[in-house]
Amino acid sequence: MRDILRRSLPTNIEIVLDTPATLWTCVADATQLDSAILNLAINARDAMPQGGTLTIRCANQSVSSDTAARDSELIEGEFVCISVSDSGVGIAPDVLPRVIDPFFTTKEVGQGSGLGLSMVYGFVKQSNGLFLIRSAVNVGTTVSISLPRGPDLPSQDATDIARSNPAQQPARARVLLVEDNEDMRDSTAWTLTSLGYDVVTASDGETAKKMIEDRDDIMILIADVMLTGAMNGVDLADFARARRPKLKILNISGYSEKALRAGGTFRTDITVLAKPFSRADLIDALDKMKA
Ligand SMILES: Nc1ncnc2c1ncn2[C@@H]1O[C@H](COP(=O)(O)OP(=O)(O)OP(=O)(O)O)[C@@H](O)[C@H]1O
Ligand SMILES: [Mg+2]
Repeated sequence: MRDILRRSLPTNIEIVLDTPATLWTCVADATQLDSAILNLAINARDAMPQGGTLTIRCANQSVSSDTAARDSELIEGEFVCISVSDSGVGIAPDVLPRVIDPFFTTKEVGQGSGLGLSMVYGFVKQSNGLFLIRSAVNVGTTVSISLPRGPDLPSQDATDIARSNPAQQPARARVLLVEDNEDMRDSTAWTLTSLGYDVVTASDGETAKKMIEDRDDIMILIADVMLTGAMNGVDLADFARARRPKLKILNISGYSEKALRAGGTFRTDITVLAKPFSRADLIDALDKMKA
């Protein structure tokens, strides 16, 4: 997330990351975890209009049955705790209990939907994790999410050896990802890269069209349906299909495939993956495309 965070925050916010090498793995949907961290970082940014420090600290956390019995917020078990702290305006004590409510926002109309924290909270609860928020006015806020410990991975050395052995590297398919929302583009690109794809991106249809015309190394096109500019994702998919019949194409959209077809947006047989999608959903859609 390091690069995404740096690009999402102004330069007057310093980013401190504390991720010890001895950290356990945790079990959670990777895409949702990325978006949770990004949501918390954006909240921190908004709380520090004058700049400040964003600190993300990761730690192994064992909760004993005694501790869990004393604190209703805690569950016994082993977790990886990720805490996101800012040195911002803080949250008043009377407001604090409401911040995770859906649609609760103190931001101006059009600035925030009030869904950020409720989504983070929902994701953590769904992952059998712990959610904690502490805040002091004019001092700052810390949101901690703890996710259940996962299995130990083979040691780093073994992984590095496997990586440096070209014989074990599958061919990397090049994907053109077209998405106008920067956060969404970054997180999807990141997921694709982590799945072994070679990713190039465009933020509008016209640029993507040119890329498809100019280069022949693109094997998969993933395009958002609603794009700003003259060419939307459906037009782009139609163009790509006519120009490069062998190209594999996936549309992604905030609307379901059913809704798009009912609305007449779709003329073709191109698969639509509804947003928001998890890493598993994306893998599934890519597999189906291959068939
Ligand atoms: N780090 C923080 N510092 C100060 N206040 C915060 C912080 N995080 C959240 N809040 C308060 O909680 C409210 C709800 O946050 P939440 O992320 O759910 O929605 P939002 O940021 O207003 O909108 P959205 O995230 O949907 O764009 C915010 O409007 C703000 O008042
Ligand atoms: Mg928010």
